Amino acid sequence: MMGWTDRHARYFLRLISRHSLLYTEMVNTGALLHNDQKVGVQKRLLAYHVSEHPVALQLGGSDPVALAKCTVMAEDAGFDEVNLNVGCPSDRVKSGNFGACLMAKPELVADCVAAMQEKVKIPVTVKCRVGIDNMESFESFENFISKVAETGCDTFIVHARNAWLKGLNPKQNREIPPLKYDFVHRLKNENPAFTIVINGGIKTMEMVKQQLQYVDGAMLGREAYHNPYILAAVDKEIYKDKTASIKSREEIIEQMCEYIDSEQRKGVALHSITRHILGLFQGQPGAKAWRRYLSENGHREDADSRVVKQALQQIERRREHTQLIEMPLG
Ligand SMILES: Cc1cc2nc3c(=O)[nH]c(=O)nc-3n(C[C@H](O)[C@H](O)[C@H](O)COP(=O)(O)O)c2cc1C
Repeated sequence: MMGWTDRHARYFLRLISRHSLLYTEMVNTGALLHNDQKVGVQKRLLAYHVSEHPVALQLGGSDPVALAKCTVMAEDAGFDEVNLNVGCPSDRVKSGNFGACLMAKPELVADCVAAMQEKVKIPVTVKCRVGIDNMESFESFENFISKVAETGCDTFIVHARNAWLKGLNPKQNREIPPLKYDFVHRLKNENPAFTIVINGGIKTMEMVKQQLQYVDGAMLGREAYHNPYILAAVDKEIYKDKTASIKSREEIIEQMCEYIDSEQRKGVALHSITRHILGLFQGQPGAKAWRRYLSENGHREDADSRVVKQALQQIERRREHTQLIEMPLG
């Protein structure tokens, strides 16, 4: 998710779940290729921590040659998968002729995917919508998927709502068009050999399990970012890893502090890491104090991992306070 799932956010999420597949923000081919000379920029766009595996690079673009070049760069950089974005509705992306508007051009998407696949061994997958604008029927959605699948691509992550390219901004396009889970279930039902991952509006582990009765995977976007501890149960309950241990939030913070220390030695500002961990205590007593303490103190010039430890103390204090209130008085 652009602006959200940068390498720091992904490092943090990986501490919570060992097996979940993580995706980068969308990187457009222009940004990668036009920075050919600027090795630093290119390196930054492809940077990830070795612990992040399995991690997929998401590309945005519609030029088969450019996409193929970037896919090779991704494979060389060690990414486990390359995903093509056919779901972003923003004006900037639309005017660049990529993202969701490509739902209307299945042949072009197929050309792109074929060109990408030809150059690499890692899987090339597609993330799309169920339609755009007045492309409302299941048949038009399936036609898109079938055309792309002719390339051999068999994995589709589907944000289960249309994107309305005229009149809605990207935020509205994640909320207003109705969810059509039934389209995604039907797609899997009629194409059992495909790997179908459903996305959109999934907020609980119960919802994930329910979806897995119909499809192969569930992708969580906003919920995983705002309430990351939801991923803590995934290794045991979804991936059935009997050896997986569920870390406490405090253990995760301890490991994050080590990461912060090492990143700060490389010149990274504390705030660019702590902004991703604000949701860790979502729903817990003290969550607000935690968020407030980090937001207010993470920007200070001398701020380091001690700020995070102090924020944790705010929570402990809040817990003690809650326990005191709960103790019978007489
Ligand atoms: C801030 C933000 C940035 C996003 N950036 C991307 C992106 O780069 N690529 C992408 O495929 N989807 C992106 N999305 C969409 C999400 O991946 C997801 O499809 C959408 O939020 C619906 O899923 P959810 O209800 O689980 O959040 C973004 C969403 C948000 C909120």
